[in-house]
Amino acid sequence: MTKDWSSRALDIESFKVMDLLKRARELEAAGCDVVHMEVGEPDFPTAAPVAAAAREAIDRGLTQYTPAAGVPELRQAIAGFYRQRYGLDIAPERIIVTAGASAALLMVFALLADAGQQFMMADPGYPCNRQFLRLVEARGQLVPVDADSNFQLTPRLVAEHWRPATAGVLLASPANPTGSVLHEAELRALAQSVRAQGGRLVVDELYHGLTYGMDAPTVLQVDPQAFVINSFSKYFGMTGWRLGWIVAPEDAIPHLERLAQNLYISPTTVSQYAALAAFEPEALEIFEARRRAFGERRDLLLKGLRALGFGVPVAPEGAFYIYADVSALTDNAFDFCWDLLERDHLAVTPGLDFGRHRCNEFVRFSYTTSLERIELGLERLRRRLKAS
Ligand SMILES: Cc1ncc(COP(=O)(O)O)c(C=O)c1O
Repeated sequence: MTKDWSSRALDIESFKVMDLLKRARELEAAGCDVVHMEVGEPDFPTAAPVAAAAREAIDRGLTQYTPAAGVPELRQAIAGFYRQRYGLDIAPERIIVTAGASAALLMVFALLADAGQQFMMADPGYPCNRQFLRLVEARGQLVPVDADSNFQLTPRLVAEHWRPATAGVLLASPANPTGSVLHEAELRALAQSVRAQGGRLVVDELYHGLTYGMDAPTVLQVDPQAFVINSFSKYFGMTGWRLGWIVAPEDAIPHLERLAQNLYISPTTVSQYAALAAFEPEALEIFEARRRAFGERRDLLLKGLRALGFGVPVAPEGAFYIYADVSALTDNAFDFCWDLLERDHLAVTPGLDFGRHRCNEFVRFSYTTSLERIELGLERLRRRLKAS
């Protein structure tokens, strides 16, 4: 008998947070006021100058395919951003504009991992990476990390876990779900340890710009051969526009271009012209104001959670997440999240979404909502803990 679906498709896991979000929407439809601290996207609308540039692109008829690697103006603008933010000269030809970081990650894994190989990454970490690797018949090699290494891989862990089938290492800084940031010396040491093993280094820098009280260094400052993944989704507030980029070594570019041509022909044209406006001073001012707002929200939530007995030993320096240890409050983080949603109408994400390591002891709070809503969320948590 023929099989209906491929094993590869059947192995792809769902995003648990999506199940939760679906239920939250049902509760809202029934008239409940749900506090959303589960979703991983800015609550701010796309900045006005970006939206205006998109309208203008449509009016000018800029709606056809572009080159697979993106329009030259945008590749140049991204290169200009590296000069301005990091003092780095990156040739625009080394930048490939993609259909979000999601496509960028899939393409980079398709380029670097052969069937049967594995890519090392931290557990907990962004869940889709394992699924992308499965799609290219490779595997995510999950290495448990804890607060003692700020939830990041270390050179020691890389050396200890390296196997003949390991093709490379994926890092994320700031990381999802922990908000932890790799500083320059740490990045340098990690880059060295991956190089020593003869592997490839990929760094997801998607939450760059969303750091508080400091700027995160790019891995390109310490390792020009690394692959960088970035996106317009988070700092630039353009989640739905589906636009990201890769910075890759020169010899990788033709291969990535071929992958892009075949996967989606070109990134969305209107989004690319809209994104050009994201680098104008007027838009950057808006993003910086939003970053300050996220910083205030982080401080409020962090203080509130700690006061309630949630374990957050290291204050997260970036992204918009707090990964909190709930083991003092429950022995089942997954049920805790569902209970909070059903009974208290507060939506947060269970650790199970991010890996297996101690996943029943952690939940992720997103501070992608206003200070007032965060206060309300904290109040509901207080009530739940009192009642149980
Ligand atoms: C760490 C990380 N990488 C990649 C992505 C995908 O981003 P994009 O919207 O650019 O596809 C996300 C989205 O939440 C993320 O958190």
